[in-house]
Amino acid sequence: MRHRQRNRATDAFILPPTEIRRSTMAAHAETETKPQRMRSSPPLDAAQRAGMAETDLDAVRQDAEGCRACPLYRNATQTVFGEGPDRAEIMFVGEQPGDKEDLAGKPFVGPAGQLFDRALAEAGIERKKVYVTNAVKHFKFEPRGKIRLHMKPNGSEIAACRPWFEKEKALVRPKLVVALGATAAQSVFGKATPIGKNRGHVIPLDAETGAFVTVHPSYLLRVPDAEAKAQEYERFVAELRAIAELTPAARRRAA
Ligand code: URA
Repeated sequence: MRHRQRNRATDAFILPPTEIRRSTMAAHAETETKPQRMRSSPPLDAAQRAGMAETDLDAVRQDAEGCRACPLYRNATQTVFGEGPDRAEIMFVGEQPGDKEDLAGKPFVGPAGQLFDRALAEAGIERKKVYVTNAVKHFKFEPRGKIRLHMKPNGSEIAACRPWFEKEKALVRPKLVVALGATAAQSVFGKATPIGKNRGHVIPLDAETGAFVTVHPSYLLRVPDAEAKAQEYERFVAELRAIAELTPAARRRAA
């Protein structure tokens, strides 16, 4: 029975068209990000223990507001929890809130979020029908004058925040978890997972859920060459289209 269930989950996903597997040199830049070593999670604090017992997303969101499982809460404005319907076919996972998200308390509302929204729309996915969250829920930064410079979360910060992602996944019950970039992939799989080798196809996560790895939208903003940038963006949109094919409920209704 277990075996059949697992197969059913895998069979539910058709591999996306080969065009999205095209590799370009620029695309592999993301892979070169040094994977963070996954350390085992520290013991859960009171807020997390409460969160794990909750069965309602709003209650878990409230618990996460008081999370002290790693030091990042000290300098961040607030916990930026996931956003979207209580049940959704797709869960997108980013890295961590940026400057704008930290202030707004919402994921993907800054420049990377705007690019993400544009790509979703081009791919025919309605943002309001998908759940969007981050691997790490506090903004990690270094003050540089008036600017707060984004810092990449380390392995222990990713591990400390992982119970919140697990709880979101258990409650939202997505058919597909989409890891945007290396930090997200590390949280989704519980281990360092290179993007270049794993992107663009469905990888079974458990009996109910598949994972799909792609690049982070802010990587697309950083590609220096205009032509490579456009190609990378098209590849990202093609992957989102493949995701839309697998998840009819997330698709924009034809006009
Ligand atoms: N980058 C992320 O990974 N998440 C956000 O919410 C914004 C930028």
